[in-house]
Amino acid sequence: MHDLYIFITGPLAWAAFILFIGGSLYRLLAMLILVNRKERFIFSYMSLRYGLRSILHWITPFATVNMRRHPVLTVVTFLFHICLIVTPIFLLSHVILWDESWNLSWWSLPDGLADFMTIIVIAGAIFFLIRRIVSPEVQFVTSASDYIILAIVAAPFVTGFLAYHQWFAYEFFMVLHILTGEMMLVAIPFTRLSHMIYSPFTRAYMGSEFGGVRHAKDW
Ligand code: HEM
Ligand code: HEM
Repeated sequence: MHDLYIFITGPLAWAAFILFIGGSLYRLLAMLILVNRKERFIFSYMSLRYGLRSILHWITPFATVNMRRHPVLTVVTFLFHICLIVTPIFLLSHVILWDESWNLSWWSLPDGLADFMTIIVIAGAIFFLIRRIVSPEVQFVTSASDYIILAIVAAPFVTGFLAYHQWFAYEFFMVLHILTGEMMLVAIPFTRLSHMIYSPFTRAYMGSEFGGVRHAKDW
């Protein structure tokens, strides 16, 4: 158990972070190079003003028509993403690990709040799962990979929650937590989770098209 722990928190953790950061940079560069070669005209009408305006508009809850049409989905999606990103970065147990390894430390969440935010992420994942199963229009565009991706995202939260509470099999869940956390990081650049990398660009592109070219409202 000890050797396994050393391996997954050492070389494997390095590999996961390098693949996550390197893979994300690679996907970003590959996109820019492809656009430059094939669709260079896009640069000529990308507008900083309309691009930023559109990103702001679309990260504001209920600002768009579609969000107002689906209020429950909107609340769940916002809470899910905020907790998903904020919790692991500001979790005290994680901040301590960065401090021990790199002497880097930053502000952290009270444990009770982090635990609650973890539950929100898990509940959000269950909501997305049920929605995929029961809603015919979502079912229609769902394939096996959607379930796998949802499981990859939920796993570090479920195992982190179980390890934190130490109800049973603490060491087992801790190892599983680190492994699933590393899997999620690596999955970000190489699966549809790369929407984290691409979404600002697609949004800015749509915003530029609607604002700068069509002079239309950006719904
Ligand atoms: C990559 C290596 C990782 C390591 C070494 C690690 C380590 C830890 C440790 C030591 C704990 C505390 C368990 C305890 O109190 O005994 C924890 C909890 C937690 N981790 Fe990680 N973690 C990693 C990755 C991740 C990732 C990628 C995520 C999510 C994206 C994540 C989310 C969480 C959550 C949500 C909790 C528990 C929150 C709670 O209910 O209190 N971890 N982790
Ligand atoms: C920071 C930039 C991000 C933005 C702007 C963003 C945006 C979105 C949007 C608009 C949706 C669609 C929600 C809907 O069904 O209406 C979505 C879904 C989703 N996002 Fe993100 N996201 C981001 C980061 C992430 C990250 C870092 C992860 C996980 C590692 C993630 C995991 C998911 C999952 C699992 C779903 C789909 C749930 C489902 O329908 O099965 N997102 N995201």
